[in-house]
Amino acid sequence: MKPRALGAGAPAVTEVGYGGMHLSIEGRPPEAQALRVLHAAFDAGVTLVDTADVYCLDQHDIGHNERLIARALEGWSGDRGGVLVATKGGLARPAGRWENDARPAQLRAACERSLGALGVDRIDLYQLHAPDPRVPFLESVGELARLRDAGKIRWVGLSNVSAEQVREAQAVVPIASVQNRLNPFFREALAGGVVRLCAEQGIGFLAYSPTGGGRLNRKLPGHPVVAGIAQRLGVSPHAVVLAWVLAQSPAVIVIPSARTVEHARDGVGAASVTLTPEDVAAIDAAEFSRA
Ligand SMILES: NC(=O)c1ccc[n+]([C@@H]2O[C@H](COP(=O)([O-])OP(=O)(O)OC[C@H]3O[C@@H](n4cnc5c(N)ncnc54)[C@H](OP(=O)(O)O)[C@@H]3O)[C@@H](O)[C@H]2O)c1
Repeated sequence: MKPRALGAGAPAVTEVGYGGMHLSIEGRPPEAQALRVLHAAFDAGVTLVDTADVYCLDQHDIGHNERLIARALEGWSGDRGGVLVATKGGLARPAGRWENDARPAQLRAACERSLGALGVDRIDLYQLHAPDPRVPFLESVGELARLRDAGKIRWVGLSNVSAEQVREAQAVVPIASVQNRLNPFFREALAGGVVRLCAEQGIGFLAYSPTGGGRLNRKLPGHPVVAGIAQRLGVSPHAVVLAWVLAQSPAVIVIPSARTVEHARDGVGAASVTLTPEDVAAIDAAEFSRA
């Protein structure tokens, strides 16, 4: 797999990473299967794994996905140091709901918990999960800068932000990555200029829900344009869509999730899929209904 750059001094990572969310939220597989999936991703060469403290069932289960990834890396025979783990703080899961909480004190406590769950002295990439409407954005970002200065985190990332917020945050601390949703159903990251800004600034753009997310990804096999290209190339519809997301900019890195070894390997396979400019244009022009 070809490497793509993260910004602000961070190392390059594989253009297809792995997102751990579905191994820890509702519908998660048994732990033994989850570990097999993570090992399959690492064995296939993935060097970026995305997680979050809130990838879990509820507030009593915080850190589930981080602990799982730590166990998977510990039990893996490959080069553990070659895998960059990106986690996040800034959300909470009271009674299983997803709520913002990016108050500085909460981010500080969350970061300490993540250090423990991951079993590390310093987190590679720590991302603000989302701006909290109740907290001035730069107060949350300022706390990430302090955590970096204290040596608790190495590189700072943002998630669910606008281009303007990226610029504001850059005035406070170097930003290595931005993680926003990008797939054929949701293209705001392109229209709103975030992907372009990342490319200009040398910031890695981590495309989340790159095949549409847990519900919409199931529509891909029935999509006439995607299915047609997949059939011609002899690859899965998911691989075609991941290749389309990667084709949007050299700044883009995809982080598909998977609960099966087969799906994890299929995601990595997308890195070998070459779409023609006509394929990309056909997907650009196609309708992707979210209904
Ligand atoms: N920053 C944020 O706010 C945010 C929000 C959402 C997600 N994320 C990150 O992005 C990652 C991915 O997002 P996502 O899970 O929403 O979306 P996604 O990767 O687009 O979709 C994941 C689903 O695709 C299915 N899939 C993958 N390959 C397949 C194949 N070849 N055939 C059939 N199905 C296939 C998987 O099914 P199985 O599970 O059955 O294998 C999985 O449930 C998450 O893990 C997380 O790290 C971040």
